[in-house]
Amino acid sequence: SETALDRALGLVREVPDFPEPGVLFRDLSPLLADRDGFRAVTDALAATVPAGVSTLVAVEARGFLFGAAMAAAHGYGVVPVRKPGKLPAVAHRATYALEYGTATLELPADVLRPGDRVVVVDDVLATGGTVEAAAGLVRRAGAEVAGVTVVIEIAALGGRARLAPHGVRSLITA
Ligand code: PRP
Ligand code: MG
Repeated sequence: SETALDRALGLVREVPDFPEPGVLFRDLSPLLADRDGFRAVTDALAATVPAGVSTLVAVEARGFLFGAAMAAAHGYGVVPVRKPGKLPAVAHRATYALEYGTATLELPADVLRPGDRVVVVDDVLATGGTVEAAAGLVRRAGAEVAGVTVVIEIAALGGRARLAPHGVRSLITA
């Protein structure tokens, strides 16, 4: 029979040609809005976090939803990696190519410490540029990326290979 997790993952909506022609957008809004579905996904994501990790690094914007939910329900701290211009004090900044356009991410100052072991959390792994940038910020702070956890991995775009040293865990391979 269908599990709560299977049902939840079935709520992801595929939207062709958004935000531009040729891109199949994964809209997680119906999953997020479903009380039992969101809980099932949050629990499954948290189950991928290795022992010894106490902090999750969540990527703005959609990674915040999952990273914060995992952290609150399962006992982790959460560090928001942010789009530019939002943080009063920045430890490190990375600019990278996205599936569509370019982007910059910033790590807040004075929250990650050398030796910290963290997991990077986002909703979707596409080319891997976003998570690679976030992982680089973690390493520049002297912390260790103990894993990468996403809801959806788009296999054809090669994010897993790009992040091979970290080991990607995903709930859906699309
Ligand atoms: C989307 C998605 C991932 C990223 C994946 O974020 O939420 O963070 O793209 O793409 P990549 O693996 O090719 O880097 P986006 O920057 O579009 O915006 P949002 O999360 O702020 O909505
Ligand atoms: Mg994003």
